[in-house]
Amino acid sequence: MHTQKQLDEKGLKVTLIEHPLVQHKLTLMREKSQPVTAFRSLLREISWLLCFEVCRDLPLETKPIETPVESMEAPVLSGKKLAFISILRAGNGLLDGMLDVIPSARVGHVGLYRDPETLQAVEYYYKVPHSMSKRLIVVVDPMLATANSTIAAVQKLKDDGAVDMRFVCLISAPEGIAAFNKAHPDVPIVTAAVDSHLNDHGYIVPGLGDAGDRIFGTK
Ligand code: PRP
Ligand code: URA
Repeated sequence: MHTQKQLDEKGLKVTLIEHPLVQHKLTLMREKSQPVTAFRSLLREISWLLCFEVCRDLPLETKPIETPVESMEAPVLSGKKLAFISILRAGNGLLDGMLDVIPSARVGHVGLYRDPETLQAVEYYYKVPHSMSKRLIVVVDPMLATANSTIAAVQKLKDDGAVDMRFVCLISAPEGIAAFNKAHPDVPIVTAAVDSHLNDHGYIVPGLGDAGDRIFGTK
Protein backbone atom coordinates (compact mmCIF):
# COMPACT_ATOMS: atom_id res chain seq x y z
CA MET A 1 0.00 0.00 0.00
CA HIS A 2 1.27 3.45 -0.92
CA THR A 3 1.13 6.65 1.10
CA GLN A 4 0.31 10.02 -0.47
CA LYS A 5 3.96 11.00 -0.06
CA GLN A 6 5.18 7.94 -1.99
CA LEU A 7 2.66 8.60 -4.75
CA ASP A 8 3.74 12.23 -5.02
CA GLU A 9 7.38 11.13 -5.21
CA LYS A 10 6.53 8.70 -8.03
CA GLY A 11 4.79 11.51 -9.91
CA LEU A 12 1.39 9.80 -9.77
CA LYS A 13 -1.43 12.36 -9.76
CA VAL A 14 -4.02 10.99 -7.34
CA THR A 15 -5.74 11.99 -4.08
CA LEU A 16 -5.55 9.26 -1.45
CA ILE A 17 -8.26 9.28 1.20
CA GLU A 18 -6.46 8.29 4.35
CA HIS A 19 -9.40 8.87 6.68
CA PRO A 20 -9.31 6.17 9.40
CA LEU A 21 -12.96 5.19 8.89
CA VAL A 22 -12.38 4.64 5.18
CA GLN A 23 -9.26 2.58 5.85
CA HIS A 24 -10.96 0.47 8.53
CA LYS A 25 -13.97 -0.31 6.36
CA LEU A 26 -11.79 -1.08 3.35
CA THR A 27 -9.80 -3.62 5.37
CA LEU A 28 -13.05 -5.37 6.33
CA MET A 29 -14.07 -5.46 2.67
CA ARG A 30 -10.78 -6.96 1.52
CA GLU A 31 -11.19 -10.02 3.75
CA LYS A 32 -12.25 -12.94 1.61
CA SER A 33 -14.48 -14.35 4.36
CA GLN A 34 -16.75 -11.27 4.20
CA PRO A 35 -20.26 -12.31 3.12
CA VAL A 36 -21.97 -10.52 0.23
CA THR A 37 -24.40 -8.62 2.46
CA ALA A 38 -21.63 -7.22 4.65
CA PHE A 39 -19.48 -6.40 1.61
CA ARG A 40 -22.35 -4.45 0.06
CA SER A 41 -23.12 -2.53 3.25
CA LEU A 42 -19.49 -1.60 3.75
CA LEU A 43 -19.20 -0.40 0.16
CA ARG A 44 -22.28 1.76 0.64
CA GLU A 45 -20.86 3.26 3.85
CA ILE A 46 -17.47 3.95 2.24
CA SER A 47 -19.20 5.64 -0.71
CA TRP A 48 -20.70 8.21 1.65
CA LEU A 49 -17.21 9.15 2.83
CA LEU A 50 -15.75 9.15 -0.70
CA CYS A 51 -18.62 11.34 -1.84
CA PHE A 52 -17.83 13.93 0.83
CA GLU A 53 -14.22 14.03 -0.36
CA VAL A 54 -14.92 14.26 -4.08
CA CYS A 55 -17.47 17.04 -3.51
CA ARG A 56 -15.24 19.04 -1.17
CA ASP A 57 -14.77 21.90 -3.66
CA LEU A 58 -18.26 22.11 -5.17
CA PRO A 59 -19.22 25.73 -5.88
CA LEU A 60 -21.82 27.37 -3.67
CA GLU A 61 -24.11 30.34 -4.13
CA THR A 62 -26.47 31.92 -1.63
CA LYS A 63 -30.22 32.26 -1.63
CA PRO A 64 -32.54 34.11 0.73
CA ILE A 65 -34.42 31.91 3.22
CA GLU A 66 -36.54 32.48 6.32
CA THR A 67 -35.55 30.63 9.49
CA PRO A 68 -38.04 30.69 12.39
CA VAL A 69 -35.90 33.50 13.83
CA GLU A 70 -35.07 35.77 10.89
CA SER A 71 -34.24 35.89 7.21
CA MET A 72 -30.74 35.10 5.96
CA GLU A 73 -28.67 34.52 2.83
CA ALA A 74 -27.89 30.79 3.04
CA PRO A 75 -25.46 28.69 0.96
CA VAL A 76 -26.73 26.14 -1.57
CA LEU A 77 -24.98 24.21 -4.34
CA SER A 78 -24.81 26.27 -7.51
CA GLY A 79 -25.01 25.30 -11.16
CA LYS A 80 -26.65 22.45 -12.99
CA LYS A 81 -27.31 19.19 -11.12
CA LEU A 82 -24.15 17.10 -11.04
CA ALA A 83 -24.13 13.69 -12.68
CA PHE A 84 -22.80 10.41 -11.35
CA ILE A 85 -21.67 8.05 -14.08
CA SER A 86 -21.46 4.42 -13.02
CA ILE A 87 -19.20 2.05 -14.92
CA LEU A 88 -21.25 -1.15 -14.92
CA ARG A 89 -21.58 -3.25 -13.25
CA ALA A 90 -19.43 -2.80 -10.15
CA GLY A 91 -19.81 0.99 -10.31
CA ASN A 92 -23.38 0.57 -9.11
CA GLY A 93 -22.04 -0.56 -5.75
CA LEU A 94 -20.50 2.89 -5.26
CA LEU A 95 -23.37 4.71 -6.92
CA ASP A 96 -25.97 3.66 -4.35
CA GLY A 97 -24.10 5.32 -1.48
CA MET A 98 -23.31 8.42 -3.54
CA LEU A 99 -27.02 8.86 -4.22
CA ASP A 100 -27.74 8.59 -0.48
CA VAL A 101 -25.61 11.73 -0.08
CA ILE A 102 -26.79 13.62 -3.20
CA PRO A 103 -30.25 12.25 -4.00
CA SER A 104 -30.92 14.88 -6.69
CA ALA A 105 -27.88 13.95 -8.80
CA ARG A 106 -28.49 12.82 -12.35
CA VAL A 107 -27.21 9.35 -13.20
CA GLY A 108 -25.61 7.83 -16.27
CA HIS A 109 -24.41 4.29 -16.98
CA VAL A 110 -21.54 3.09 -19.12
CA GLY A 111 -21.61 -0.69 -19.57
CA LEU A 112 -18.11 -2.08 -19.98
CA TYR A 113 -16.51 -5.40 -19.19
CA ARG A 114 -12.89 -6.38 -19.35
CA ASP A 115 -12.08 -9.06 -21.88
CA PRO A 116 -10.28 -11.62 -19.65
CA GLU A 117 -7.69 -12.42 -22.37
CA THR A 118 -6.81 -9.00 -23.78
CA LEU A 119 -7.86 -6.94 -20.70
CA GLN A 120 -9.37 -4.45 -23.17
CA ALA A 121 -12.69 -2.79 -22.30
CA VAL A 122 -15.71 -3.99 -24.28
CA GLU A 123 -18.70 -1.63 -24.34
CA TYR A 124 -22.26 -2.99 -24.16
CA TYR A 125 -24.37 -0.08 -22.86
CA TYR A 126 -24.31 3.72 -22.79
CA LYS A 127 -26.91 6.13 -21.46
CA VAL A 128 -26.12 9.50 -19.85
CA PRO A 129 -28.04 12.66 -18.90
CA HIS A 130 -28.39 15.57 -21.33
CA SER A 131 -26.22 18.73 -21.16
CA MET A 132 -23.07 16.85 -20.17
CA SER A 133 -20.92 19.90 -21.02
CA LYS A 134 -22.64 21.96 -18.30
CA ARG A 135 -22.44 19.46 -15.44
CA LEU A 136 -19.84 18.36 -12.97
CA ILE A 137 -19.40 14.66 -13.80
CA VAL A 138 -18.32 12.17 -11.14
CA VAL A 139 -17.36 8.81 -12.67
CA VAL A 140 -17.52 5.90 -10.23
CA ASP A 141 -16.05 2.38 -10.31
CA PRO A 142 -14.55 0.55 -7.32
CA MET A 143 -11.47 -0.72 -9.20
CA LEU A 144 -8.79 0.99 -11.32
CA ALA A 145 -6.53 -1.85 -12.49
CA THR A 146 -5.05 -1.44 -16.00
CA ALA A 147 -7.37 1.61 -16.32
CA ASN A 148 -8.53 0.39 -19.74
CA SER A 149 -12.19 0.53 -18.62
CA THR A 150 -12.01 3.99 -17.06
CA ILE A 151 -9.94 5.46 -19.89
CA ALA A 152 -12.54 4.22 -22.40
CA ALA A 153 -15.49 5.44 -20.30
CA VAL A 154 -14.03 8.90 -19.79
CA GLN A 155 -13.19 9.21 -23.51
CA LYS A 156 -16.79 8.33 -24.37
CA LEU A 157 -18.05 11.01 -21.95
CA LYS A 158 -15.65 13.59 -23.40
CA ASP A 159 -16.92 12.73 -26.89
CA ASP A 160 -20.37 13.57 -25.50
CA GLY A 161 -19.21 17.01 -24.34
CA ALA A 162 -18.18 16.40 -20.72
CA VAL A 163 -15.41 18.77 -19.65
CA ASP A 164 -15.52 18.92 -15.84
CA MET A 165 -14.91 15.38 -14.64
CA ARG A 166 -13.43 13.50 -11.73
CA PHE A 167 -13.08 9.79 -11.08
CA VAL A 168 -13.66 8.03 -7.75
CA CYS A 169 -12.59 4.48 -6.99
CA LEU A 170 -11.94 2.33 -3.98
CA ILE A 171 -8.71 0.57 -4.89
CA SER A 172 -6.26 1.41 -7.64
CA ALA A 173 -2.98 0.07 -8.99
CA PRO A 174 0.03 2.31 -9.68
CA GLU A 175 0.05 1.04 -13.30
CA GLY A 176 -3.57 2.14 -13.75
CA ILE A 177 -3.01 5.57 -12.26
CA ALA A 178 -0.01 6.17 -14.53
CA ALA A 179 -1.99 5.07 -17.61
CA PHE A 180 -5.02 7.17 -16.66
CA ASN A 181 -2.91 10.26 -15.86
CA LYS A 182 -1.35 9.93 -19.32
CA ALA A 183 -4.64 9.45 -21.18
CA HIS A 184 -6.70 12.02 -19.25
CA PRO A 185 -4.38 14.41 -17.35
CA ASP A 186 -7.31 16.80 -16.85
CA VAL A 187 -9.40 14.31 -14.83
CA PRO A 188 -8.50 14.03 -11.13
CA ILE A 189 -8.55 10.62 -9.42
CA VAL A 190 -9.76 10.13 -5.84
CA THR A 191 -9.07 6.71 -4.29
CA ALA A 192 -9.11 5.02 -0.91
CA ALA A 193 -6.03 2.89 -1.59
CA VAL A 194 -3.20 2.46 -4.04
CA ASP A 195 -2.07 -1.15 -3.80
CA SER A 196 1.20 -2.82 -4.74
CA HIS A 197 0.85 -3.90 -8.40
CA LEU A 198 -1.16 -5.87 -10.98
CA ASN A 199 -0.75 -9.64 -11.33
CA ASP A 200 -0.45 -11.52 -14.64
CA HIS A 201 -4.26 -11.56 -14.98
CA GLY A 202 -4.56 -7.80 -14.47
CA TYR A 203 -5.89 -8.16 -10.92
CA ILE A 204 -4.90 -5.72 -8.23
CA VAL A 205 -2.56 -7.17 -5.57
CA PRO A 206 -3.52 -7.51 -2.74
CA GLY A 207 -6.82 -5.90 -3.85
CA LEU A 208 -10.15 -7.46 -2.96
CA GLY A 209 -10.68 -9.82 -5.91
CA ASP A 210 -13.39 -9.24 -8.51
CA ALA A 211 -15.47 -6.32 -7.25
CA GLY A 212 -18.54 -7.18 -9.35
CA ASP A 213 -18.59 -10.78 -8.16
CA ARG A 214 -18.21 -9.71 -4.55
CA ILE A 215 -20.99 -7.10 -4.75
CA PHE A 216 -23.46 -9.25 -6.64
CA GLY A 217 -22.46 -12.71 -5.36
CA THR A 218 -21.86 -14.08 -8.83
CA LYS A 219 -19.00 -16.41 -7.94
C1 PRP B 1 -13.94 -4.42 -13.17
C2 PRP B 1 -14.03 -3.11 -12.43
C3 PRP B 1 -13.58 -2.13 -13.49
C4 PRP B 1 -12.57 -2.92 -14.26
C5 PRP B 1 -11.21 -2.46 -13.84
O1 PRP B 1 -15.03 -4.60 -14.00
O2 PRP B 1 -15.29 -2.85 -11.92
O3 PRP B 1 -14.62 -1.69 -14.33
O4 PRP B 1 -12.75 -4.30 -13.92
O5 PRP B 1 -10.23 -3.06 -14.63
P1 PRP B 1 -9.32 -2.24 -15.63
O6 PRP B 1 -8.89 -1.02 -14.91
O7 PRP B 1 -8.20 -3.19 -15.91
O8 PRP B 1 -10.13 -1.93 -16.86
P2 PRP B 1 -15.27 -5.96 -14.82
O9 PRP B 1 -14.67 -5.86 -16.18
O10 PRP B 1 -14.83 -7.13 -14.00
O11 PRP B 1 -16.81 -5.96 -15.07
P3 PRP B 1 -18.01 -6.06 -14.00
O12 PRP B 1 -18.05 -4.76 -13.24
O13 PRP B 1 -19.18 -6.24 -14.88
O14 PRP B 1 -17.76 -7.24 -13.11
N1 URA C 1 -11.37 -5.74 -11.66
C1 URA C 1 -11.67 -6.17 -10.42
O1 URA C 1 -12.85 -6.31 -10.08
N2 URA C 1 -10.66 -6.45 -9.59
C2 URA C 1 -9.37 -6.31 -9.92
O2 URA C 1 -8.48 -6.58 -9.09
C3 URA C 1 -9.07 -5.86 -11.22
C4 URA C 1 -10.09 -5.57 -12.07
